[in-house]
Amino acid sequence: MANPSPHLLLVATGGTIAGRASSAQDNLGYRAAELSAQDLVAAVPALASVPLRCLQLAQLDSKDMSHAVWQGLVRCLAAELARPDVSGVVITHGTDTLEETAFFLQRVLAPEKPVVLTAAMRPATSLQADGPQNLLDAVCVAQAAGARGVLVAFGGQVHAGDELRKVDAYRLQAFDSEPAGPLALVEEGRVLALRPWPQATGLGAALCERPLADWPRVGWITSHAGFDAALVDAAVAAGFDGLVLAGTGNGSLHADLEAAAVRALQAGLQLRLSTRCGSGRVVGPGGLVVPVSATHSPAQARVALLLDLLAQPARPQA
Ligand code: SIN
Repeated sequence: MANPSPHLLLVATGGTIAGRASSAQDNLGYRAAELSAQDLVAAVPALASVPLRCLQLAQLDSKDMSHAVWQGLVRCLAAELARPDVSGVVITHGTDTLEETAFFLQRVLAPEKPVVLTAAMRPATSLQADGPQNLLDAVCVAQAAGARGVLVAFGGQVHAGDELRKVDAYRLQAFDSEPAGPLALVEEGRVLALRPWPQATGLGAALCERPLADWPRVGWITSHAGFDAALVDAAVAAGFDGLVLAGTGNGSLHADLEAAAVRALQAGLQLRLSTRCGSGRVVGPGGLVVPVSATHSPAQARVALLLDLLAQPARPQA
């Protein structure tokens, strides 16, 4: 049998990139996740000559991203990346939880081949549609010599999957990866590397094979003026396994939250501290009750804690 010919796999999961509105001026009242993987490819004439296989893995607004879809993605990627004829993968996704999926996939798989996520801030029907260019850029990155790991191609920049942060709710330039900044730029189809591609070892796809009903329950609570500790106590009573506490400033916690955190620790929950600030991370440890998450944002810290807990035996429920 002839060797299968090398190609890229496009995995579509929905998002605004696959969204449609009834008018080209409408960037708000659109429905996300309507166009298929094939529709997205057809909107980019330059992709006609690229060997690309399409797979519609999900069709959702990424605000509704679930651990079930993540488990499906890990299974799909582990199988596809092991194929010698698959040279890389492009994933289309919504922007709203892109940073969580990218972080999760990089920590679990840290693949040697490129897995490039992309998205759009405007629906496909918009006068300002950014999806087609972002998709083309993602394909260029997936074809770039030496590219590896989970990457995000967006707005002409390439970010490391585990450093990404959504920093703007509306504008087209919605992502950054401060403090390190982009790994590369994409300019007119050329990928200009600024930093080395990620070199890491993944936790392994087997970690995600635990039945979903037994995945740790990990939430995230933000410290704020007038904090009501009942929120933390309710999470303990509901059987949560872990909580990320997004502190004020450099991770300081309202006194009532700190007292509730001590109760949660005594009840066996694992806690991690992050900051509610829009950028930067907690510079610790500084005598805090709760261990500082080395990751930047509360969203990343929640995924990191989920993975820490998945790697441990399940906690017996009271
Ligand atoms: C989504 O995250 O699926 C909708 C919003 C977006 O993609 O910008």
